[in-house]
Amino acid sequence: MTSRRKFLTILGGGVVLAAAGAGAFVSTRTPAKALAPWSAAGGYDDRRMQALSYAILAPNPHNRQPWVVDLSKPNEVTILRDKARNLPETDPFDRQLTIGMGCFLEQLAIAASTTGHAVSYDLFPEGEDGPVAIARFRQGASPDPLFGHIMNRRSCKEPFQDRPVTTTPDLEALADIHTDPAETAALRELTKVAFDVEAFTPRTLEESIDLMRIGKAEINANPDGIDLGGAFFESLHIAGMMSKDALMDTDNAGFQQHHAGYLAMLDTTPAFAVIRTQGNTREDQIAAGRRWLRLNLATTSLGMALHPVSQCLQEYPEMAEHYAAAHDMLAKPGETVQMLGRLGYGPDTPFTPRWPLETRLLNG
Ligand SMILES: Cc1cc2nc3c(=O)[nH]c(=O)nc-3n(C[C@H](O)[C@H](O)[C@H](O)COP(=O)(O)O)c2cc1C
Repeated sequence: MTSRRKFLTILGGGVVLAAAGAGAFVSTRTPAKALAPWSAAGGYDDRRMQALSYAILAPNPHNRQPWVVDLSKPNEVTILRDKARNLPETDPFDRQLTIGMGCFLEQLAIAASTTGHAVSYDLFPEGEDGPVAIARFRQGASPDPLFGHIMNRRSCKEPFQDRPVTTTPDLEALADIHTDPAETAALRELTKVAFDVEAFTPRTLEESIDLMRIGKAEINANPDGIDLGGAFFESLHIAGMMSKDALMDTDNAGFQQHHAGYLAMLDTTPAFAVIRTQGNTREDQIAAGRRWLRLNLATTSLGMALHPVSQCLQEYPEMAEHYAAAHDMLAKPGETVQMLGRLGYGPDTPFTPRWPLETRLLNG
């Protein structure tokens, strides 16, 4: 979520080097265990496991990976959402978590297509409190070209280049692409004020900070949430300069530097992508997630970076004014803006952690 550059100015490199010691430390800080699911993808004989090994690499809010699957019926996968992974403060109605499940379903279907399987979904077959979907596999699909971009897809949480975005019919078939200078300026301001609301509302800030995994050991032990890895963060952590308490303290230099860096990053956004739906049923939210995943793969195929910035779409009282502003700007009356993302050209970024597929199997 956060790049080292944002911390460098205030904290200075000296502390880091002192804490980090030798280069050997740097080279051992990759949380290899937490990243193993990326190299395990595609290595399964069972066609359902094969497709699922890619589905678990889907984007999802705060990398909660709320999916659980049941393989007890042949040719089917029952897909559930683990409610223990809810985000009650920033996603009180589970709208974003449901969108993340839509991303998972789409990535599953795309991956299954490469073994010639079409996947059909029966959504919420027992209503909202039951499984999200029953996936049925049958022969007869041709490979989806977006499959080739799954391993390179990221949510790019970094400053973008000063380079304009030219939209394409493929992107516009999936989302509204906003490139107009006046519109993008207004959206940059909106994303910044909304980010401030989340950051200065203690319970929403705490929800994010509780999900931070700082350094290799924490990331490997809990390969989800917001990972702050690498020698830089780990050194600060060891030096006692980067703790959850420090990040909760809005007067702390670490908090302030992180916060200023995030706002500066939001300012480097040449374009925005928006997915809106006419209704706001669970099925609409799943459909929005499926479209977002395809958009994220399509932008990857074009060398573009995409980064969800969801704060102004969150549904809690302190955010209501900005939620209304987002809807005024981006949707027709009655529609719901499901996703808002920064679109541009960004740096390459590393994989984010994942729980191994085997840990997501019910009765597995
Ligand atoms: C519905 C949804 C909302 C998201 N909102 C945000 C957000 O507000 N800010 C952010 O930095 N990332 C957001 N993300 C991106 C996730 O943090 C990201 O998918 C997750 O950390 C996994 O990383 P990856 O997409 O690079 O694999 C969102 C993703 C989804 C699906």
